Amino acid sequence: MKILVIGSGGREHALCWKIAQSPRVKKIYCAPGNGGTREVGQNIDIQVDDIQGLLGFALEKKIDLTVVGPELPLVMGIVDTFQKKGLKIFGVNKKSAQLEGSKDFSKGFMKKHDIPTAKYETYENLDEALRGLKEFSYPLVVKADGLCAGKGVVICQNEKEAVKALEDILEKKVFGDQGNKVVVEEFLDGVEASLLCFVSNGKIIPMESAKDYKKIYDGDKGPNTGGVGCYSPSPLFTEEFMTKIHNVLENIEIGLLKENMDFRGVLFIGLMIVKGEPKVLEFNVRFGDPETEVLLPRLESDIVDLFEKTIDNTLKEADLKWKDHICLTVIATSEGYPGDYKMGFEIYGIDRLDEEIILFHNGTKYLDGKTFTMGGRVLSITALGETLDDARDRVYSSIEGINFRGMNFRKDIGKTK
Ligand code: AMP
Ligand code: GLY
Repeated sequence: MKILVIGSGGREHALCWKIAQSPRVKKIYCAPGNGGTREVGQNIDIQVDDIQGLLGFALEKKIDLTVVGPELPLVMGIVDTFQKKGLKIFGVNKKSAQLEGSKDFSKGFMKKHDIPTAKYETYENLDEALRGLKEFSYPLVVKADGLCAGKGVVICQNEKEAVKALEDILEKKVFGDQGNKVVVEEFLDGVEASLLCFVSNGKIIPMESAKDYKKIYDGDKGPNTGGVGCYSPSPLFTEEFMTKIHNVLENIEIGLLKENMDFRGVLFIGLMIVKGEPKVLEFNVRFGDPETEVLLPRLESDIVDLFEKTIDNTLKEADLKWKDHICLTVIATSEGYPGDYKMGFEIYGIDRLDEEIILFHNGTKYLDGKTFTMGGRVLSITALGETLDDARDRVYSSIEGINFRGMNFRKDIGKTK
């Protein structure tokens, strides 16, 4: 088979790496890919939002299966476009992608189908939004409706901060049209957990759990990032907890059916556990990054089979086979991330890592035999272990051998629950 993977992050490198293990696969293309994906496939210089360019490429190369990594092409409707041309593609359709593409849509879905979530209101007009603030206590959360590359959520400690966030989004249009609407919601104080699931034939089939570290500094300090460390499985997902979220999953399934979504792909449920009770913070309609970097090394099944069965509506829980091992990843980031950062620094030491390290590239570029930094998140240094301590020791003893100018990483991944 010839496979096209769309995207350029650590998630896509992990996808290419896992797809390459399938005996059914002869050739992998990655658009646009990075310095890591070129080791398992061929990078193609087409951007993720160039739907016509990607379609043309898939038709020309007679691609057997396209796998979509990021949310943007899904929200733009790439799956519907490919399907119209008879091409097989793994990802959700445009209608289902609204669950990530619009916070208002997603909150409306949760409210309508009794899915526990924070209390909220949606506003399109600044004056109304300012008046609405009186209905909430502080802290509260202000969210731009659309896709904002992970920057559209502001936690406001007081009225002054809330007014500024609302003005930025609705008046100054800092997120352009993605901020035409704003969701104001109650702040939930609890422990965050993510659950990634396949959805096939209307059934939610959870993958193994993962614990993502979102804050940039040790001890969960500093601003939120896309995720700078992760391990799987997460100790939060006990059997008791899975029983609790069973009802939530059932209500989501009913909602997907009633709304006629024909949701086939990955549903990533962002949860906040408040006093033991799960509440849904958000839905994503794709694999997570860095969750994918720790889930796929634990997956024993052929991922291409899983993709095809999901598309054919025949995937069953028993199709997903996992290793008992723990997998842990630590992400090396560029100085300044998640704020402004510089790129283009040569990366040293990645060609002489221990054999047990699985290295995924998040933001790198390969040029004339050298690899350079190309993003805020640069490398995911990943290892499997019999225990969490094993996996963590492997990663941390190898990370010291890697360096680039301004390289940072958290020292406490896997040390806190
Ligand atoms: P979202 O994109 O909706 O997941 O928001 C990004 C991050 O903001 C989440 O991972 C949480 O850390 C935080 N967040 C979002 N909504 C809330 C909320 N209602 N209460 C507390 N934290 C939140
Ligand atoms: N790790 C969070 C995300 O992929 O959105």
